[in-house]
Amino acid sequence: MLLSQDASLIRPLNLYLMVYIILVFGTLQTLPDVSDEPCIFKITLRNFRTILSWKLKDHSIVPTHYTLQYAIMSGPEDVITVKDCTNITRSFCDLTDAWVNMSETYTLRVVGHRGNSTLVDCEGSLFPLIDMPLEPPNFEIAGFTDHINVTVEFPPVLPKIVHGEGSSFYLSLVIEEKSGNIVKKHKPKINADIAGNFIYVINELIPNTNYCISVYFEPSNLGTINRSPVKCTRLQPEQESDEDSGREARGYS
Ligand SMILES: *[C@@H]1O[C@H](CO)[C@@H](O)[C@H](O)[C@H]1NC(C)=O
Ligand SMILES: *[C@@H]1O[C@H](CO)[C@@H](O)[C@H](O)[C@H]1NC(C)=O
Ligand SMILES: *[C@@H]1O[C@H](CO)[C@@H](O)[C@H](O)[C@H]1NC(C)=O
Ligand SMILES: *[C@@H]1O[C@H](CO)[C@@H](O)[C@H](O)[C@H]1NC(C)=O
Repeated sequence: MLLSQDASLIRPLNLYLMVYIILVFGTLQTLPDVSDEPCIFKITLRNFRTILSWKLKDHSIVPTHYTLQYAIMSGPEDVITVKDCTNITRSFCDLTDAWVNMSETYTLRVVGHRGNSTLVDCEGSLFPLIDMPLEPPNFEIAGFTDHINVTVEFPPVLPKIVHGEGSSFYLSLVIEEKSGNIVKKHKPKINADIAGNFIYVINELIPNTNYCISVYFEPSNLGTINRSPVKCTRLQPEQESDEDSGREARGYS
């Protein structure tokens, strides 16, 4: 969670929010005080899949099976059980097809069992727009004499959470090119109907020079940048050597 590092900050905030909720709705059933919960929930967009994972704060508790349930805060009260995440041995769940609204608050419950007994019962809530970091996409580069082709992997269909009906599409891809101390950012326009891999050509590069490329999605909010590891290539030297000296003199512009 965004503010979880600063417990002194989140507690009064939570308190005000709860008081507000009690006043308005006369109930305390939503928004558990996450700081006291035995689990830490994390959600991330990885390879365009929405992956929820959880960890127990107390490592001595080791359930063998978990069951996940969630509810949509603004929606009906119904608790939804995810079929593929019922009585599972892993501590993560793919919610790509279930969670389709980035600006919705989802409340969560994970119960951990061992044999017949319940070892742990956690609640939490997540707001993907703020809580879900976007991991960088996979990419490949191919260097030629004066250009680099960057192939960025996109799925055949974007998940609804980044392109739901009514929600604005916001994946803003940045391709960062670095040579020596010079960094250039390229921001190709990505449409919501993008299907499959995307090739971006970085032109007008200097032959026989080393370039490093990394990619990331610009966070829409206060989130931090999740930059991919760099991939580097040394461009091929020019075939004709006649113009070499001219090229050298021009250098970077
Ligand atoms: C969960 O799975 C385990 C092992 O597969 C089984 O023994 C147990 O009865 C299951 N529990 C439920 C509630 O289905
Ligand atoms: C997403 O959730 C927000 C908050 O409940 C709501 O205002 C918005 O209409 C929802 N968007 C869609 C496409 O359902
Ligand atoms: C677990 O549940 C099964 C079926 O309900 C029961 O037969 C068994 O005795 C229980 N085991 C324990 C250790 O309680
Ligand atoms: C780089 O990609 C562009 C666009 O797909 C293509 O036209 C070009 O031929 C590629 N360059 C090389 C050397 O393959």
